[in-house]
Amino acid sequence: MIDNKELIRIAIENKKNSYSPYSNFRVSSVVLTKKGNIYKGVNIENSSFSVTLCAERSAISQAISCGEKEFEKIVIVGDSEYTNPCGVCRQFMQEFFKKETEIIIAKDENNYKVFNIDDLLPNNFSKHDLEEK
Ligand code: THU
Repeated sequence: MIDNKELIRIAIENKKNSYSPYSNFRVSSVVLTKKGNIYKGVNIENSSFSVTLCAERSAISQAISCGEKEFEKIVIVGDSEYTNPCGVCRQFMQEFFKKETEIIIAKDENNYKVFNIDDLLPNNFSKHDLEEK
């Protein structure tokens, strides 16, 4: 199984694919699925700013579009020291991530923090709310 260092290296290398001409802030994300496959994503900006897609949603959407909905971990790297996922991405992750899914926010391959979805989005709205209706 691919290790965290290698995943972080892949995410950092993939920052070059960021389409961020407006903010010049590159973000890259890599997900590792339960099947052991990796999918990459970058932020994709738009002249109509609100249309911008974040790297995390881009990576997760790649996996889902290829038929994979079960995730081991996600790595996030960006142009700040530790690039935290935005609120929309946290809610998006919540839909698919289990408690044990690792959310790795990395500065570099030797310096990273590991969270789960409850750390980053406590008391979240989820499919369970809809089931209780
Ligand atoms: N960005 C991400 O890709 N992921 C996040 O979770 C935070 C923000 C991107 C969106 C935009 O292209 C740039 O960072 C600056 O906000």
